[in-house]
Amino acid sequence: MKSENYYQILEKKITKKKCLVGIIGVGYVGLNLLIQFNKNKINTIGFDTNIKKINMLKKNLSPITYLKKKDLKFSKNFSEFDSSYKRINLCDVIIICLPTPVKKNTQPDLSNITNFIKKIKSNISKGKLIILESTTYPGTTREEIVEKFKAKFYLGEEIFVAYSPERENPGGKIKFDSIPKVLSGFSKRCTNLSEKLYDLIVKKTVKANSIEEAEMTKLLENIYRSVNIGLVNELKIICKSMNLNINEVIKLASTKPFGFTKFLPGPGIGGHCIPIDPYYLYWRAKKFNQNSKFIEIAGRVNIETTLWTLKNIIKILKKYKLKNPKVLVLGIAYKKNIEDTRESAGVKMISELMKKNIKVEFSDPFVKNEKVNGVKKKSIDLYDKNIKKFDCVVLVTDHDKFNYKKIIKNAKIIIDCRGRLNRKHDFYQL
Ligand SMILES: NC(=O)c1ccc[n+]([C@@H]2O[C@H](COP(=O)([O-])OP(=O)(O)OC[C@H]3O[C@@H](n4cnc5c(N)ncnc54)[C@H](O)[C@@H]3O)[C@@H](O)[C@H]2O)c1
Repeated sequence: MKSENYYQILEKKITKKKCLVGIIGVGYVGLNLLIQFNKNKINTIGFDTNIKKINMLKKNLSPITYLKKKDLKFSKNFSEFDSSYKRINLCDVIIICLPTPVKKNTQPDLSNITNFIKKIKSNISKGKLIILESTTYPGTTREEIVEKFKAKFYLGEEIFVAYSPERENPGGKIKFDSIPKVLSGFSKRCTNLSEKLYDLIVKKTVKANSIEEAEMTKLLENIYRSVNIGLVNELKIICKSMNLNINEVIKLASTKPFGFTKFLPGPGIGGHCIPIDPYYLYWRAKKFNQNSKFIEIAGRVNIETTLWTLKNIIKILKKYKLKNPKVLVLGIAYKKNIEDTRESAGVKMISELMKKNIKVEFSDPFVKNEKVNGVKKKSIDLYDKNIKKFDCVVLVTDHDKFNYKKIIKNAKIIIDCRGRLNRKHDFYQL
C-alpha cells in the first residue's frame, strides 16, 4: 500500500467515527477519556494491567467514585476492557494515559511508558495513530516513542505520533468537552489526525507548534499551581504569626478585578500532579544546565506546610494536657469531592500522628479504607456519638458531603486546615 493511503484511510476512519480507539491505562485520566469517546459513539478498548479494575469495568462498575454508573452507561455499548495487549493491533488509535511518577530521589520514572512501548512495538502494524497524554518533560514523546518506531516505520507516513496533555480536573465542575485540548504531532499529518480525533470529543482544539511545546505547557500549568499554592501557604504561616487571617486577606484581594488569581491555602499539596510534575521539569532543566529555583522552593514550602500543620496540631493537643488524645482526621483525599489519596496531606498526617503514638482515625465519604503505616484503617461514620468519641477533629479535606453543622455541634476540639468552619470555643484555624 502507498504510504499516502495510510493517512487517508485513518483520516476517513476518524472523521466517520469508524476508528477503534485503544486507551492504555484506564485510571482517572484514561477512563474519563474513554467515556468521552463512548458518549460520542466511538468504539474503544480500555487496556489496564490492573485485573481487578478491568473486571469491575467489564461488569459496568466504576472503580472511581465520582464517575457513576450513569457515566459508564455509554461504555456498555461502545467499550471493551482488557488486561492483556493481545488486541492492541486491532486499534486504529492508541492513546497512552499511563502514570508518570517520580523515583525516590524525585527523578522522573517513565518505566510505565517505556515498558509499554517495548511490549507492543513488534505487534503494531502500519496505519496507527499513537498519542501520549501522560504528563511528562519536553522531549519524551520524541525520545521514547518517535525514536523507538523510527527503525520500523516511516514516521508521519506509515505511523503517526502526537502528544496531547490531559487537563482533566477530577471532581471539577467544568465539562470535559469545554476544556480546550492542546495537541501537536511529529509532522503536519500527525497533528491533523490528532486534531480530527479530538475534534470529535471537545469543542476546541489548540495546535502547538511542536510536541515539546505541548509537553511543556502542561508542566507550566502545574508548576504555576505548585508555586502559587506554595506562596499562599507561606503567606498563611506569616499571617498566623502576625495574628492575621489569611482567608480574609484573600477575600479582600479577590475583589481586585485584574492581576490577582485566587489560590487557597491548605495543609499541603497532594495528588498525582502538583507534587510530582514540577520535578519532571526540574530534572530535565538540569540536563540543559538550568536550575529551576521556583520549583525547588515551592516544593520545599509545600512539604514544610504539612510539617507546620502537624507541629501545630500537636501543640494544640498538648495545650489540653490530654493523656491519650484521640484524633479524627476529616477528609484524607488530596482534594475535596474526590477519592484520590495519592500523596495526600491527610494520609501523611495520620502516618505522623501514629508514629507519635497518638490514636488517630479518619472519616471520608469518598474513601472507605486506607492502609497507613501498614495498618488498615476504615472510614468512621460521622454519627453524633462517633464524633463525640474523639478529643479532637481535624478538618484536612473539606468535602461538600460532610455535615458541618453536626461536626461543629459535636466535636470537642476542632482544628480547621481549610478555612471552612467557625466556632467560638475550642476552635483553631491552621
Ligand atoms: N489524575 C489527574 O488529575 C491527572 C490530570 C492530568 C494529567 N494526569 C496525568 O495523566 C497520567 C495518568 O494519570 P492518572 O491519574 O490517570 O493515573 P492512574 O494511576 O489513575 O491511572 C493509570 C492506570 O494505568 C494502569 N497501568 C499502570 N501500568 C500499566 C501498564 N503498563 N499497562 C496498562 N495499564 C497500566 C493502572 O492500573 C491505572 O489504572 C499521568 O501522567 C498524570 O500525571 C493526571
